[in-house]
Amino acid sequence: MDLGCCRKMWTLLVLVLIISWHLLNAFSVSVPKENYIAHYGSNVTMECNFPVGEKLDWSALMVYWDKKENFLVKLVNGEEDLKIQTSNPRIRHLNNKLVKGKSLLHITKVKIEDAGIYRCLIGYGGADYKRITLTVNAPYSKINQRVKEDPDTSEHEITCQSEGYPKAEVIWKSKDQDLSSKATVKYAVGQEKLFNVTSTLRINATANEVFQCLFQVKETGENTTAEIVIPEKKKPSEVKRRAYFGIIGAVIFIGIILMFLCSGKRNAINMEKV
Ligand SMILES: *[C@@H]1O[C@H](CO)[C@@H](O)[C@H](O)[C@H]1NC(C)=O
Ligand SMILES: *[C@@H]1O[C@H](CO)[C@@H](O)[C@H](O)[C@H]1NC(C)=O
Ligand SMILES: *[C@@H]1O[C@H](CO)[C@@H](O)[C@H](O)[C@H]1NC(C)=O
Ligand SMILES: *[C@@H]1O[C@H](CO)[C@@H](O)[C@H](O)[C@H]1NC(C)=O
Repeated sequence: MDLGCCRKMWTLLVLVLIISWHLLNAFSVSVPKENYIAHYGSNVTMECNFPVGEKLDWSALMVYWDKKENFLVKLVNGEEDLKIQTSNPRIRHLNNKLVKGKSLLHITKVKIEDAGIYRCLIGYGGADYKRITLTVNAPYSKINQRVKEDPDTSEHEITCQSEGYPKAEVIWKSKDQDLSSKATVKYAVGQEKLFNVTSTLRINATANEVFQCLFQVKETGENTTAEIVIPEKKKPSEVKRRAYFGIIGAVIFIGIILMFLCSGKRNAINMEKV
């Protein structure tokens, strides 16, 4: 779509409708909420209200919604332009509340890219528009963890990984001690613009020691935490002891066989003598 054309069209539309009608009529659009916060993957319904009077006259009604001057909804004389609707099947205008003076924009399975400023422009005798801001957050709800140990020392590499939005800091703690300065963090853009955050802590730890990694998002104040317990490790000495007993066992076994063979020979020799 040619953006230049739509931008001009929008500006023209606003100018014509507002100037010609607003001066004549005291018509105003209101919004019960200016700011919406939606979780990634959830549904959101944004609302603009207009005075409808006793009974809605569909032929006098115009409803436009746009974001960044791209039309999302175009409803004129009660007829909706469905070409616009199908260009984003997750966005739908709920026409059933128009009779009550409510224009509802319904977005399903919200994505990060849905965030931004929306405008509803309504013409009904007069004309007016309002802005609505949508913010989208994706909590770092599932934290994947991994512990890697060095078999010879007590050094461990603990990793926490999760996806969310906006960017999170990772704080490491153990017994209320902040270990964050010992950790490294890696950011990547994962699927659907989410941040893929991987933080790794290298530390000397003993079995059953408990660590926490906390994904903290400053903008939202939403934290999620995972707890990591250092597993018991197979002691190398135990492995050695087992190998040691194995060798001793083998030596004894061979020894017994040799003894049998020798005594057998001796018996044979004795028999010869007889
Ligand atoms: C989101 O909206 C769709 C379509 O309107 C509906 O089928 C679905 O149940 C809704 N999901 C939630 C969590 O409300
Ligand atoms: C996130 O990053 C980690 C480490 O860089 C990688 O192993 C993992 O596959 C990534 N996950 C996704 C969903 O991109
Ligand atoms: C673990 O302890 C050893 C010996 O005290 C030290 O050399 C090493 O740097 C420590 N490793 C970490 C990650 O602190
Ligand atoms: C998130 O963690 C930070 C730092 O530990 C703390 O100051 C803040 O209160 C936490 N927020 C919530 C909602 O728990």
